Amino acid sequence: MKPVIIACDFENKEQFMEFIKHFPDEKPSLKIGMELFYQEGPKIVKDMKQQGFPVFLDLKLNDIPNTVEKAMYNIGRLGVDMINVHANGGLAMMKAAKQGLLRSGSKAKLIAVTVLTSIDDTILHQELLVFSSINNAIIKYAELAKEAGLDGVVCSPLEVPMIHKICGEKFITVTPGIRLSEQQSDDQKRITTPKMAYELGSDYIVVGRSITKAKDPLLVYHQIMEDMNCGN
Ligand code: C5P
Repeated sequence: MKPVIIACDFENKEQFMEFIKHFPDEKPSLKIGMELFYQEGPKIVKDMKQQGFPVFLDLKLNDIPNTVEKAMYNIGRLGVDMINVHANGGLAMMKAAKQGLLRSGSKAKLIAVTVLTSIDDTILHQELLVFSSINNAIIKYAELAKEAGLDGVVCSPLEVPMIHKICGEKFITVTPGIRLSEQQSDDQKRITTPKMAYELGSDYIVVGRSITKAKDPLLVYHQIMEDMNCGN
């Protein structure tokens, strides 16, 4: 079964705990990001792990290699299942991240953010002074992540075929930007349905508001799991 990771973008522990009550009998993978982590600290991660939830800690590290190595060592000891860095921190930084994780004894998947979906060609060229196309930047960052020994990348489902072709089918793709129907997009620009993500080869999908803001989150979660796995 391909996993659906629920993006738990809540302001605080209270809201998060209310949401978790919808899942009394099963343990979906949870993505804990900066908003919740900076409010509640590492304890929220340890609590969720103790309750048996797989955790993707979405902190997108980006600093000098020495700092990232040490930060990753501490993150590894929290027992997370997935963690990420920004690929634009460079090859040495990604290698250091991997090193820190291994030193902690963690078996967490380490993935890289290539180009944020909020960045378009204008920002890339005029602000960041990167003059290649977005697709070429994504390919280069994915290749560097692979060279550094990372397990995969965060990307749009639409980029999955290109990344799998270049980095191999085993290089995992974790894809946000998922909507139940193509009409409802919120602030996401390049969206796909869970079924399209499956067809494009996404290995994990990340779904936030479609589940967290649903009247019946458990029902929607099941519906998405079914779509993503095409009845398998
Ligand atoms: O609510 P929604 O399904 O749009 O949530 C998507 C989640 O994936 C959010 O937590 C967002 O921060 C994250 N994400 C994203 N695009 C990226 C990287 C992460 O939407 N490129």
